[in-house]
Amino acid sequence: MLTILFLGDIVGEPGRTAVIARLPELREKFALDFAVVNGENAAGGRGITGKITIDLLRAGVSVITTGDHIWDQKDIVGFIGTEPRLLRPINYPPGTPGQGTIVLETPKAKVAVVNVQCRTFMQPILENPFRALDAVLWELRAQTPVIFVDVHGETTSEKIAIGRFLDGKVSAVIGTHTHVQTADEQILPGGTAFLCDAGMCGPVNSILGRSVEPIVQRFVTNLPVTFPVASGEVRLRGAVIQIDETSGRALQIARVDEAGSPERTSGGTPSDVFNEEAQTR
Ligand SMILES: [Fe+2]
Ligand SMILES: [Fe+2]
Repeated sequence: MLTILFLGDIVGEPGRTAVIARLPELREKFALDFAVVNGENAAGGRGITGKITIDLLRAGVSVITTGDHIWDQKDIVGFIGTEPRLLRPINYPPGTPGQGTIVLETPKAKVAVVNVQCRTFMQPILENPFRALDAVLWELRAQTPVIFVDVHGETTSEKIAIGRFLDGKVSAVIGTHTHVQTADEQILPGGTAFLCDAGMCGPVNSILGRSVEPIVQRFVTNLPVTFPVASGEVRLRGAVIQIDETSGRALQIARVDEAGSPERTSGGTPSDVFNEEAQTR
């Protein structure tokens, strides 16, 4: 059995500080083999820098996925080609810097990670994600049955459609981008773990990780305002997935909603997260 932790969009300094602080502890708590985070908002809420990428990898993150904010920090266009563990969506046109897939060795099995972006209500509108996934899957499945997909998109319908499209072909499909965790974690009929959105790693007293008041004012007045990253209590949200590394089928998925600061108590055993409400197959 191979256990993967996925954490949703990391928002700014509060989000990345919390991820870096808690990852060693979470690794033990969940008996992790592999950790994937979405870092598209890690730099002040907009994009990710080379330095932040390195900080997250040094903290124990295996792969960083992103999304529509990937290019927000100008150094990233030159940096992304130097660090294959930082992914951008696969459905950018040919010739785009960086890559949307990676296969990494672990002691138990090779693990493939894919990052894809939806098109409904998303900018820029990229190539068809279904066809882009189809084009890479055969090549990945020739290398390993353990495949994790971050599907970055706004609508539940498109993310569920991608989950169903990939059911039985990959181990897990987890959504990002809305910053709001959904409660639909399940193992699909073909054996693929699915969650429509992982939620974010960022300040709770916020609107998607940004300070409340400026965003409310923006909606009220339609005037331009800046959206600073919020402060205060941070939660880390995502999912932990157990996978049969021989078949690639998901065994269990459970949502993760963890404090941003180290826990004072032991936090229980690795199996505690999979209580009777968790989906089992
Ligand atoms: Fe996004
Ligand atoms: Fe985001």
